[in-house]
Amino acid sequence: MNLKNDLLLRAARGEKTERTPVWLMRQAGRILPEYRAVRGSLSGFVELVKTPELAAEVTIQPVDILDVDAAIIFSDILVIPEAMGLPYEMVEKKGPFFLNTIKNESDINRLRIATADDLSYVTEAIKITKRELNGRVPLIGFTGAPWTLMSYMVEGGGSKTFSKAKKMLYTEPELSHKLLQKITDSIIAYLKGQVHAGADLIQIFDSWAGVLSPAQYEEFSLRYIRQICDAINEVPVTVFAKGAFFARESLGQLNCETIGLDWNMEVAASRKLIGDNKTLQGNLDPCALYGSFKEVEKATKNMLDEFKGARHIANLGHGVYPDVDPEKVKCFVNTVKEYSSR
Ligand code: CP3
Repeated sequence: MNLKNDLLLRAARGEKTERTPVWLMRQAGRILPEYRAVRGSLSGFVELVKTPELAAEVTIQPVDILDVDAAIIFSDILVIPEAMGLPYEMVEKKGPFFLNTIKNESDINRLRIATADDLSYVTEAIKITKRELNGRVPLIGFTGAPWTLMSYMVEGGGSKTFSKAKKMLYTEPELSHKLLQKITDSIIAYLKGQVHAGADLIQIFDSWAGVLSPAQYEEFSLRYIRQICDAINEVPVTVFAKGAFFARESLGQLNCETIGLDWNMEVAASRKLIGDNKTLQGNLDPCALYGSFKEVEKATKNMLDEFKGARHIANLGHGVYPDVDPEKVKCFVNTVKEYSSR
């Protein structure tokens, strides 16, 4: 199907665009009262993720309400661990919780390599969303990176340090590789399913990249992200490795189109390290949206000045925070649109 607005895809591929495309990580859910109304009618987050018609509805909400240039499928990175045999719960106000975690080799042996069929509720949601979007904007599919998924599978939930998962890297490197490879194989099958169902671009979230040392990052994370990038060639791929400022040069060598920058990564220096062959995505500090409308506008323009319009997709430097006023998000989006069409 032809897209009416394909700015995101053209920008990702490095083609010329009339203006900079804009969307926000974590735009679906969290900030919108319309989302909370849908979720409130169900038992909770997991049921919403597994109900394709409603997942499609909340995926499209930010396109209608915020007027962003892309939709991102409503799901979570934790659907893969679940498909591999580790079910999660989403505890209100606390976050994810795994009843069983990975502690030893037999736990790893028990894990299945997921197939796209195990996640048919996501591919079904993608198909419905594509139909309902009717070509308005591209649909982004996503996954967590192998290391970030391993962190949750070993820790059993969120953590400031991810010391249990890091302990496994230090004390059981062979086992860690075995686990990471199983996760990677599952991710590739899952992403192929998302692309087949209609995802127009894939983003890999390595949310906990920043807890690793540069050498560990290369060995336990990048190596597997590289496999994924090499396997997904049908659509553009974005790699967002939060906190991986030390790996920007290596990220620039990946077989992908776009690298996401967090707000700690200085734009000009990142461009130098990553090179001219990638699109850069980001990178306004999500907290900048707590400012007044005037301040949001100014911070957004400053960010756009730094990117100079060259191969850029405007976004925040991480997901939008749940208590941000949607009107401030609209101000961010509109500022990008007006700035670039001056
Ligand atoms: O971008 C989108 O809006 C699409 C949906 C999406 C969700 N999670 C829905 C969600 C995406 C892309 C994610 C990715 C995700 N999930 C990441 C990577 C991105 C990042 O922020 O670094 C991570 C680390 C997770 C794991 C996760 N899921 C956590 C830690 C939590 C609890 C805290 C939080 O972020 O709200 C979740 C729950 C979750 N995932 C919610 C939503 C809308 C909140 C649950 C609710 O309030 O309904």
